[in-house]
Amino acid sequence: MFSAVRSGVRAACRFHSGRRVSSVGLNHRVIAREVQRSVVSRWRGVHTSPAIASPLVTFNLPDVGERMATVVITEWLVKEGDTVSMGDALCEVQSDKSAATVYSPYDGVVKELVVEEEETAHLEKPLVVFEVEDGATGAEEHELKQSPPPPAESAAAETTPPTQLPVSSGKVLATPAVRHLAAEKEVNLADVVPTGKGGRVVKEDILNYINSNTGPTVSGPVTPPPSPPSPPSAEDRVEPITGFKLVMVRTMTESGRIPQFGYKDEVDMNKLVELRSLLKTRLSEGGVAFSYMPVLIKAVSLALVHHPVLNSTVDPDCTTITYRADHNVGVAMDTPLGLIVPNVKRVQEKSVYEIAVELNRLQSLGAAGQLPPVDTADGTFSLSNIGAIGGTYANPMLLPPSVAIGAFGRVKVVPRFDSEGDLERGHVMHVSWAADHRVIDGAEVARFSNRWKNYVENPASMILDMK
Ligand code: COA
Repeated sequence: MFSAVRSGVRAACRFHSGRRVSSVGLNHRVIAREVQRSVVSRWRGVHTSPAIASPLVTFNLPDVGERMATVVITEWLVKEGDTVSMGDALCEVQSDKSAATVYSPYDGVVKELVVEEEETAHLEKPLVVFEVEDGATGAEEHELKQSPPPPAESAAAETTPPTQLPVSSGKVLATPAVRHLAAEKEVNLADVVPTGKGGRVVKEDILNYINSNTGPTVSGPVTPPPSPPSPPSAEDRVEPITGFKLVMVRTMTESGRIPQFGYKDEVDMNKLVELRSLLKTRLSEGGVAFSYMPVLIKAVSLALVHHPVLNSTVDPDCTTITYRADHNVGVAMDTPLGLIVPNVKRVQEKSVYEIAVELNRLQSLGAAGQLPPVDTADGTFSLSNIGAIGGTYANPMLLPPSVAIGAFGRVKVVPRFDSEGDLERGHVMHVSWAADHRVIDGAEVARFSNRWKNYVENPASMILDMK
C-alpha cells in the first residue's frame, strides 16, 4: 500500500525573513547576507540598541513557504551558548506541506532557543535570541565584513546549473559544532560519509573518518575510536510519531476518509522499451538521464486533455470542484531524506525532452535534500513509480485535494502470444489508478486509462496530439 505517499512532503529549503529563496544556484551564506540586510534593518531600534556592545537580537520565524502560519520544530541543530556563523543551520521545521531548514542570519552566540523541539513556532514570532558579534546592529556595516570565501561546496552550488547537479553535490549538512570539529581536525566535510538524520554529518562520522586512516593527516590529540553500536534491544520501544511521520498520519488519514475508486490494467511496454533505448543513449550524451517516466508523464497530460475532471481539486467539504488549467504532475520520489512529491509544472506545454530535464533537476534536488516548496506545491495529479524499486501491483492513495493518482509496477519481461499466436518476448507493466469516487465515476477512470494506455503502447501516436 502506498501509505507513504503524502502531500508536499519533505523539502529541505532555505528561507529567511519572509523571503522564500530556493537554494538552487545560490549559496546560503549569500542568501543569509542578503536577508540580514532586511532583517537587521527591520529590527533596528526595535529589538536592539546601537549603544550596547553586544546587543541581543530576536530572530523571528521566517516564512517557510506558502505563508504557513505555524510549523513544528522537528530538531534544533544548535544549542544555547553555541557560536554560529551567518548561514549555519539552526533548526529543521515541518509545516503541513513541507519541511525546511532555517539558517542563521547572524554571526553571534545563541542566547535563547525560544521554542522547544516538537513544539509549534509561529510565523514572525520569536524563534532565537542571538547575541550578535561586534555589536553589528547596523546591517550595512556588518555586510562589509561578511565577505569570507564561501566553502568549496557552496561555491559549486552557486555556479552549477541545477539540471547538472550530481547527487553528491548538495551542501554538506552538519551542525556548527560538527563543522567546528571538522575544521579543528582539518577534515573536509565533503569527504565524510554522513550517517546522521537527513544525511547530516555527525561527530561520530568525523571520528570514524579520522580513525579510518584514509583521510588527511590530522593534528591534535588522538581521538579514541567510537564505541561499537549497541546490540539491538530485546525490548519493545515506544516512540512518539512526530515530524514527517505526523504529516503522513494527517494526509493519509484525510485520504482514507475519501471513497476511492481503484482501477488496474496491464500495459504493453514493448514499443516504449525500444524507443527509450534509442533515446536514452542520445540524451545521455547531453547529460540527461532518460527513463520511462517522461513519456508516462506526457501521456498522462495528453489523456487529461480529454478527461479534465481527473485534473481537478475539490474543497475539503467537497462542495466545489475546480478544474485545474495546468497539468502539474507530481512524482513521488524516494530520497535519502524521505518521500518527496515534487511536481513537473505545466506538463501540457512541455516536450518529453523538457519533462526529462525537469525530472532530472527535481531528482537531483531531492537527492541533495534541496527541493524548495515551490517544486512540491500546487500539484494537480500524482504518479508513483514504485516499480523503480520493485513490485508488480500497488494501491496508491489520493493526495487531497487532488482527485486522481496513478502507480506503476516494475516493467517485466514475460512470454506473450502475438496476433499470429506465436510466442514472443513481451515487456509489460501494471498501472493502478485511484480516483475520488465522490466526483469521478469508474467509467471515466477507465476511459482515461484506456487513452493513456494507448499513448504508452503506441508512443508514436503521441506526436499527433502534441502541440
Ligand atoms: N520498471 C523497470 N525499470 C524501471 C522502472 C520500472 N517501473 N522505473 C524505473 N526503472 C529504471 C529506469 O528506467 C532506470 O533505468 P536505467 O538505469 O537503465 O536508466 C532505472 O530504473 C532508474 O530509474 P530512476 O532513476 O528511478 O528514474 P525514474 O524516472 O524511472 O523514476 C522516481 C524516478 C523519482 C519516480 C524514482 O526514482 C523513485 O523514487 N521511485 C520511488 C517512488 C516511491 O517511493 N513510491 C512510493 C510512494 S508511497
